[in-house]
Amino acid sequence: MSKENQMNLSQRDFLSWLLKGGVILTLAGFILPAITYLLPLTRQAPVGGMVDVGKKEDFPTGAGRKVILGGKVILVIHLASGFRAFSATCTHLGCLVDWDEKKRQIACPCHAGFFNSDGSVISGPPPRRLMAYVITVVNGRVMLSA
Ligand code: FES
Repeated sequence: MSKENQMNLSQRDFLSWLLKGGVILTLAGFILPAITYLLPLTRQAPVGGMVDVGKKEDFPTGAGRKVILGGKVILVIHLASGFRAFSATCTHLGCLVDWDEKKRQIACPCHAGFFNSDGSVISGPPPRRLMAYVITVVNGRVMLSA
């Protein structure tokens, strides 16, 4: 084999490896973001056990606060009678509801939907109550369960 043929062969090998490397990097560019997108959902979702959402002091009595767990927004309300937690997604068209501390009710800003502090509908277009979560305080920590 002449020196020129050997050089052409090594150039061909180099280009082949460069092409393979480019294909691998392109595939990694698609696969890695998909994996990082899916993993946090499976790690953080409140499936099965209890999930710590903060110190009891972080939730003043009478106030409501939203927490995000597994991509879901949950409204935590601290009443004098104890804690309550509901999906913050309105059952009408999916807007995020808020706790109205003065009126002591949950309000949806989109179409004037109102819910009681037990999640039941007071008025407006929502067709059903808000989905409730089990919530307890353990050793000063507020714990949510699906
Ligand atoms: S989305 Fe809440 S009342 Fe329409």
